[in-house]
Amino acid sequence: QDDTYNQLFCFCLFFVFVLFFPVCCGAVTVKVTPKVEADGGTTAKLPCTFSGTALSNFVVDWHIDTGNQRTRVAYRTISGERMSDPGTPLVGRVTLEEDLTLTIKSVKPSDPNKYYCQVTAGKDGSGEGETILEVFVAPQTPVIQKPSQAISVDQEVSSEVCISSSKNGFPSPRIIWFKDNQPLPEIKDRKEKTYMLLTSVKETTGLYSIKNTLHMRPTKADKDSIFHCTVEYSLAGEKNKNIQKKSEPMKIDLNYPFEKVMFNLFNPTVVKEGDNVTLKCETDGNPQPEFEFSKDEKNLDGADGSLILKNVKRTDSGTYKCSTYDYDAEVFEKSNTTVLTVNYIDEMSVFPPGNQTIDLGKQVQWQCKTKASKNHTVLWKKGDVVLSQDGTLSIASAAYKDAGEYVCFGGVPEVPGLTAQASVNLTVKGKPEIDTPHAGEVAKEGDEVTLKCSANGFPKPQFTWSTSGKESLPVEENKVVGSLTIKATPEIIKSGVKCEVSNEFGKDSKDFPVAVKRANSAEGRAFSLLLLLSSLLLSGLFVVQTL
Ligand SMILES: *[C@@H]1O[C@H](CO)[C@@H](O)[C@H](O)[C@H]1NC(C)=O
Ligand SMILES: *[C@@H]1O[C@H](CO)[C@@H](O)[C@H](O)[C@H]1NC(C)=O
Ligand SMILES: *[C@@H]1O[C@H](CO)[C@@H](O)[C@H](O)[C@H]1NC(C)=O
Ligand SMILES: *[C@@H]1O[C@H](CO)[C@@H](O)[C@H](O)[C@H]1NC(C)=O
Ligand SMILES: *[C@@H]1O[C@H](CO)[C@@H](O)[C@H](O)[C@H]1NC(C)=O
Repeated sequence: QDDTYNQLFCFCLFFVFVLFFPVCCGAVTVKVTPKVEADGGTTAKLPCTFSGTALSNFVVDWHIDTGNQRTRVAYRTISGERMSDPGTPLVGRVTLEEDLTLTIKSVKPSDPNKYYCQVTAGKDGSGEGETILEVFVAPQTPVIQKPSQAISVDQEVSSEVCISSSKNGFPSPRIIWFKDNQPLPEIKDRKEKTYMLLTSVKETTGLYSIKNTLHMRPTKADKDSIFHCTVEYSLAGEKNKNIQKKSEPMKIDLNYPFEKVMFNLFNPTVVKEGDNVTLKCETDGNPQPEFEFSKDEKNLDGADGSLILKNVKRTDSGTYKCSTYDYDAEVFEKSNTTVLTVNYIDEMSVFPPGNQTIDLGKQVQWQCKTKASKNHTVLWKKGDVVLSQDGTLSIASAAYKDAGEYVCFGGVPEVPGLTAQASVNLTVKGKPEIDTPHAGEVAKEGDEVTLKCSANGFPKPQFTWSTSGKESLPVEENKVVGSLTIKATPEIIKSGVKCEVSNEFGKDSKDFPVAVKRANSAEGRAFSLLLLLSSLLLSGLFVVQTL
């Protein structure tokens, strides 16, 4: 009993000794920051202060842990000189400040360590403080790599689905896989269906490059799954923990068998004669198998799942078949069909056909019709004017203005671009008619004037002018315009000029007056007055002479 008591007592004493001796019995107390964090490349500051002595001839040593021993990196001598030690991993980057702070420039992945600040002050004894330095370097954004070949679904073993790698981090970062934005638990057991293989390589720079390979047994459902990963790391400072950098998303290339064959019209959806048509065949598997095409038991040549029919005719309408072979299935051949309908419109037939010539005032009528694969419209137009929408065009009493070209348009509204057209020409024949004449005007007697006599009539009428001059016969639309250029003699000003037109059906004539433009300017009046005066003077002279 006593023995145990003694043992316990000694034990306690030992603990008290070990734990409190440096504090309670050394007069010097050293204060440091227990943990300092720094990002690679920056400057780390390890402060050190002390109390418990007033002596000025104290010595300070900063040490680091190097395996089993400590190595001094910087110190202060008894006389107050501050120096750094040669041959340490910190040489050239370390300085001891006046306030005894140890400053390390361009922090490296090899710098994390225990740093001891030891103060010795003669008779007052010594004290020591320990600081742990931690260094952080952000790794690069992870990169995902796919295997070079597609993976088959429903395999007995797991396949390497993708590799993610992230370079140059410190300390070694972590890669987390995500499938459809859900994190995958980190499983390292290779007996599981899904597991990850991790490697971490320490580069010569001291930084870590890590790789995480995802192994899975994908199913068909995974064809649309999106995978990505993040690299998780920390930087100096409370706020900068567990930062994540995200990779690009990725889909895996899967091979899976098909169940269905789909065969559809690809382009265009409504087909008309003359179109180029593509029929597309595909399965719900991956990759696509080879296909065969046929119509009415006749084989057709396709390529890459497409059957291309150029410049189709109505006879190309019908049921097309696409087949393929599934060697693993019980039913060997799988196929599907699609129906092609080629729309058409026949030529427009007009009755009576060709050009029509009718007498002025008579009735004329045409019928226009056609056949098409779907409901169609028939329009009669002259120029831009729609004259009829039911195929019948009638003109009760033909006038000269009705002459010209009439076009009958056929169209299938349900099939854009499916149209046909035909035209007829109407000629209206009869005796010529002269339009209301425009009077000719001259500034003064003797000037030249051009008269225009415009006439309808078919056949083209002959022109006769009552006076001869320079004649021409231009044709304007349905009309013939006879023009005459003459000198306005007093005779012509007095009685005008007559235009006469005639053809085999009769004739017409109109008088074209020619007038001197009334001079109402001051100059004109003065001129008239002068004329009057001179004639008076002339008659006076005449009287004198006869006397
Ligand atoms: C044939 O195609 C249609 C439509 O593309 C599809 O619904 C059907 O399942 C297919 N049939 C077969 C046997 O693959
Ligand atoms: C159909 O294809 C031919 C040749 O490829 C081309 O010359 C023609 O213009 C095409 N027809 C139509 C309606 O696209
Ligand atoms: C119909 O008349 C036009 C002139 O109006 C002529 O160009 C065309 O050749 C004629 N067509 C026939 C078939 O006679
Ligand atoms: C085609 O025309 C007939 C008779 O005019 C009409 O009853 C039918 O609804 C039309 N069909 C379409 C698709 O417009
Ligand atoms: C009608 O005349 C025009 C020229 O004026 C011609 O191009 C067209 O072919 C003619 N129509 C018929 C049916 O002759």
